[in-house]
This record gives sequence, structure tokens and C-alpha cells, in this order.
Amino acid sequence: MKTDLNTIQNLILKAAENARRETADEPEPEKPKKSKWPIACTVGPGLEGAIACESKVGYVNGTKGWLVYRGYDIFDLCARSTFEEVSYLLLHGKMPNMAELTIFKEKLFNYTRINKVVRQLMGFPIEQMSVMGALRLGANLMRREYSDLDMASARPASFEAISSDEDSIAMETTPHGSNHATFEFKSRSNRKAAKSKRGFDKLSGLEDSYHLIAGISCIAAATSRLHNDKLPLEPQPDLSHAANLIYMITGKKPSPVEERVMDIALILHADHGMNASTFATMVVASTLADIYFSVGAGIAALSGPLHGGANEDVIRNLREIGSAKNVKPWVKKKLDQKKKVSGFGHRVYKAYDPRARILGPLAGLLLKEKPELNPLFEVAQELEKTVMDMFGKEKKIFPNVDFYSGLIYSSLGFDEELFTPMFAASRVSGWTARVLEYMEKNRIFRPRGLYTGEFNQMYVPIDQRK
Ligand SMILES: CC(C)(COP(=O)(O)OP(=O)(O)OC[C@H]1O[C@@H](n2cnc3c(N)ncnc32)[C@H](O)[C@@H]1OP(=O)(O)O)[C@@H](O)C(=O)NCCC(=O)NCCS
Repeated sequence: MKTDLNTIQNLILKAAENARRETADEPEPEKPKKSKWPIACTVGPGLEGAIACESKVGYVNGTKGWLVYRGYDIFDLCARSTFEEVSYLLLHGKMPNMAELTIFKEKLFNYTRINKVVRQLMGFPIEQMSVMGALRLGANLMRREYSDLDMASARPASFEAISSDEDSIAMETTPHGSNHATFEFKSRSNRKAAKSKRGFDKLSGLEDSYHLIAGISCIAAATSRLHNDKLPLEPQPDLSHAANLIYMITGKKPSPVEERVMDIALILHADHGMNASTFATMVVASTLADIYFSVGAGIAALSGPLHGGANEDVIRNLREIGSAKNVKPWVKKKLDQKKKVSGFGHRVYKAYDPRARILGPLAGLLLKEKPELNPLFEVAQELEKTVMDMFGKEKKIFPNVDFYSGLIYSSLGFDEELFTPMFAASRVSGWTARVLEYMEKNRIFRPRGLYTGEFNQMYVPIDQRK
């Protein structure tokens, strides 16, 4: 079968069909209805289960294996849309028309010219910094570039927001303390806060978001080149965002198939509910810190191995396993050691992760052309089959987004250190879209902690301490 863009579309539509068939018996979600705050819900450690806000940006359904951006199914978006269109959709809440998309693409391209930021970055010991470290610093430098616009940054006037002090509450020592004495929910309409004259400046918030979406990709690419003793490359005006990303990293213009697969990987990582990095971004934005600092916090959260980075582990494992015949003993050993198999399982999905459903066949397609990487794909397929047979079906543990994404990035010629930055280059659309939405009715995030320590400890001067 000759690989062309139709082949890719057909693979995705086939994956969508499988997803629908396999989860047809799971109940459809209720239509969203207006919620009334405060909402009663069961909360676990780490705020698991807590509902922190309302959002129209995106939706994940773990039992049906759904991922939805602004009402659009991820399979449909991957089969037909582009990262530029999806970013516009996330930020603006609607699909762009031709004129809107053209302007958006022009703006994105203009914002990819961040030579000054890259030059400043080169003044830091960038060779000792991970790409994620450089991205976090880069987000700060991008803000400096904009410092003259600080006043117009994406935030409501401070007197319109609810301050941290106003929301401060005593720490609870028992989970069921007197609610009223320690914590009182007030609706915004009951609050006496002055009304802002300016209000939330959505337009500059959008510009900042475009700037960040364009810039994070460029910083990732430039850092990776510098790590390989190569000079950063400028983006090309005739290339799409996905193609430019590949070009700025590898120095080669991608084939249409490579470009399309990169575009789909970017679409797939753009938003995923209130995950840790999205939450971190929103927490910082809710203090009215500006959006560059907020995205910096998202990048920091994503750099942790519990969030981004399982795909690096997957590639290392596939290499370690080496060949399909070693898969079973390798999995058995992992399980005997009570270790998890990277790239499987998900906190939310108890069905096949739709992102892995799409990335799996696309990895197969790309790796067919790369004889040096093809054996890794064979190992991956055998690993998927083995995990499903040994415990996956029973425990509802399926491949997740990280299982195949590393193979795709490897086949595009990216170093492993770029895997998590590629996640950031895409998720920055979701981070900024959710911040802009939340800013419309900002309320500082302020959960409670449960105090389990001592009281009435007596201070002993240091020379009398044992
Ligand atoms: C993502 C993850 C943290 C989700 O964890 P979770 O929702 O808390 O799931 P649990 O840890 O409760 O797992 C439920 C059961 O499945 C098992 N399980 C889950 N993921 C597993 C994996 N990857 N390999 C082997 N067993 C796994 C657990 O051991 C547990 O078994 P038990 O009921 O016998 O104790 C977990 O699946 C994991 O660590 N995966 C590997 C890392 C990874 O790929 N991360 C990227 C996520 S996008």
C-alpha cells in the first residue's frame, strides 16, 4: 500500500470505528447542565476527584475512550484538521473561517521569529540545561521581550479578582470541622469587590497565547540544535507549524507524510482535562501572575517524570527488550518485581486511549520506511499483545499516549530529550485556552490542607537542645 495522506486519514477513520464498536455498551455521558456551586464531590489526596472549575475547552471520557475539544471528536480532528486550526478552536471556542485561519497562521509565523530570545538563551549555559529547563527559562525571556506590554497582559484588573487573603481559611485539623466557621462559599454577585473599568483584556491574552504557541516550539528546536553543536534555524514561511517544527529540529524539510504525522501528534497532545500541568498553569494564572509565568509553571509541572516523559522510558524499554521473543520473560520479570510497564495504564482511561489508537498505526506507517527502527515497532506490537493477554484485558490497562509517541518522534529524527518538549509545544494551546477561559471569572485557587501535626510545642533555646 503506497503511503499517502489518504492512507493516514483512512487509518484514523478505521481507529475511530474500532473505538466506537468496542465501547458501544458503555453509557453515553449526560448532556452538560448548568452547575450550582458549591458542588459536592468526593475528594482524594492530591485533589483527586475534586471539581475545581467549569470548562468548555475539552472533555475526556475514560470509559468510552473519548477525547473531545470544544465538542469536536479527536478522531475527526486528527483525520481532517491541522494543529493551527485546533489551536484556534481551543482558544476561540469555534472553528476559524478561511480568513480567520489565514490571519492566525500569519500571526503564528510572525511570532516564530524569536531570534532575540534565542540569542539571550545562548548567553546561558544551555548545554548543561535540559530542553525543558530551557523552555521554562525561554518562557520568561519571551515575557521580557514583551515587557512594554506588561500592563496589557492577560489578566483582569486586580481589584476585580478575589484576593488570596479574602479566601484564606483556617487549616482544618479534622476533615469534618465546622464548615461554616472555617469556610464560607460566597457567590461572586454577593461580593462587594469593585467592578473593574478595564476588565479582563482578552485580546492581549490571545496575542500572548499566539506568541507562546509559536515560541515554545522554536525554543525547543533551537535548544536541541545547540545541544547537537548546530546553529538554530529560522522557520520557513512556506511551511506549516508542524513542518517548521521538524525543519527547525532536523534541518530537513519533512515529507508530506512526516509533516502530517507530526501535525496529528501535536493535535493529540493539545488538551487533556485538568491534568497536572494544566492545573499548575491555571493556579499561577489565578493569582493574576501573567500568562508567561503561568505557562512557565505548566512547563515545570510537565517536566516531572510522573507527567511527561513516560515515552522516553518506553523507547529505552523497547531497546532493552531487543526482540519480540524476549518480550514475555521481560514483562514477567517486571511484574515479579512489582514494577509497572511504561506506556500502559491511565488514571482516567479505562478503555483504549484514543491517542494511542491513532498513534499506534501511524508509528507503524512511519517505521515501515525506517529499517533501523522497524524492529522496535515489532517489539512494541508484541509488548502490547503480551500486556493485553497477561493482565491488560482483565485490569482494563491499555496502551496510553506515551506508548507509541516516542517511536514516532524517533522516526522523525528527534532525540529522546525532545519527547517531553514536543508535548509542551502542543499542550501550550490547551494551557493558554484554559487560562483565558478561567480568567473570565477568575477565582484564586485555594484548597485546604489537613493539619496532622503537633500543638503547644515549647521553644527550647538552641544551646539547651539535645
Ligand atoms: C498511569 C498510571 C499511574 C495510572 O495509575 P492508576 O490509575 O493509579 O492505576 P493503578 O495504579 O490503580 O492500577 C490499577 C491496577 O493495574 C496495575 N497497573 C496499572 N498500570 C500498570 C502498568 N503500566 N503495568 C503493570 N500494571 C499496571 C496496577 O498495578 C494495579 O494492579 P492491582 O489492582 O493488582 O494493584 C499507571 O498506569 C502507570 O504507572 N503507568 C505506567 C507509566 C505511564 O505509562 N505513564 C504515562 C501515563 S499517560
